[in-house]
Amino acid sequence: MAQEVRGVVAPGRNEPVRVETIVVPEPGPGEAVVQVQACGVCHTDLHYKQGGISDDYPFLLGHEAAGVVEAVGSGVTDVAPGDFVVLNWRAVCGQCRACKRGRPWYCFDTHNAEQKMTLKSDGRQLEPALGIGAFAEKTLVAAGQCTKVDPSVSPAVAGLLGCGVMAGIGAAINTGQVTRGDSVAVIGCGGVGDAAIAGARLAGAARIIAVDIDERKLATAEKIGATHTVNSSTADPVEAIRELTGGFGADVVIEAVGRPETYKQAFYARDLAGTVVLVGVPTPEMTLELPLLDVFGRGGSLKSSWYGDCLPSRDFPMLIDLHTQGRLDLGAFVTETINLDEVEKAFERMHAGDVLRSVVML
Ligand code: APR
Ligand code: ZN
Ligand code: ZN
Repeated sequence: MAQEVRGVVAPGRNEPVRVETIVVPEPGPGEAVVQVQACGVCHTDLHYKQGGISDDYPFLLGHEAAGVVEAVGSGVTDVAPGDFVVLNWRAVCGQCRACKRGRPWYCFDTHNAEQKMTLKSDGRQLEPALGIGAFAEKTLVAAGQCTKVDPSVSPAVAGLLGCGVMAGIGAAINTGQVTRGDSVAVIGCGGVGDAAIAGARLAGAARIIAVDIDERKLATAEKIGATHTVNSSTADPVEAIRELTGGFGADVVIEAVGRPETYKQAFYARDLAGTVVLVGVPTPEMTLELPLLDVFGRGGSLKSSWYGDCLPSRDFPMLIDLHTQGRLDLGAFVTETINLDEVEKAFERMHAGDVLRSVVML
């Protein structure tokens, strides 16, 4: 039977979000209904609300979530009711060229639940943020979006892996392939950059240089594992990074802002044989001009990182285990826990740079 639950809806461009009654259908073939326990507030939710992603309102927001599977539809074998799961953006197909080559993070046939949740008030279909929609007591997803993890971890912590924290850790360990002894520079120390710092530390980086324009962010970055900090509003970050790496530049530079000037800094701050990892997402009108001789003359590699190039079934349980063993402090990313009706205020705090993550508890 379909169920009615409370959920946070973005009704239209730049309108405040509202808690509404939403109707969650019974899971169809390949689908699951998840009882959401925690869901982090991410910039992408704000972009949905502001119209930066599309105009397919109304949106059901929330996409960094963990919870318990309540029911599954026919054909679902990987998860069962009662499983504690972390949700991811899309289920991969397992059949396309990318999947068959063992690189499912490049899958070009990903999918979400086929059925739609609806607004009780007028029956309109809801577009779930990143195919999840988890600022809601229950949500409907494709079963392949659910990854089982150790249920002893707190849901607020587990849910973080659903987006920004995984993107950052993955940028370091999957895309950047940071290894023991490396020097790593991270430009932009918000949630994603800080997670990249945590990832670099986990991988055994010897030097981790945090770069930001905000002293508060640099202080947090140090707590998370940065060994050096550079305030790029007062110092040239490329020079500072070179100085801190014996004149060479960092082995791996991770850009976690998404702006032309920081892309450029990342390009020049790497060692000639180093790797630049781009995880900050630019906007469509942004461009970058570089002397071709520099593009040609510098070796190494330039990689973009999509969702931390993660493989949820491999990476979510592993990172939860490391957290549980005390080797990775995911709890450091949870600044506050809030209720469903406080999401609008959490957006303001996020915009002001006051929080790493506000997490809605359900
Ligand atoms: N140089 C250095 N740091 C900067 C600059 C700059 N020119 N401009 C902004 N920053 C810093 C901010 O002070 C902040 O600490 O970058 C950080 C950005 O952090 P958040 O706004 O919290 O964003 P976050 O969630 O970490 O995401 C960063 O990664 O996945 C992408 O879409 C995401 O593009 C975004 C980026
Ligand atoms: Zn595929
Ligand atoms: Zn997100």
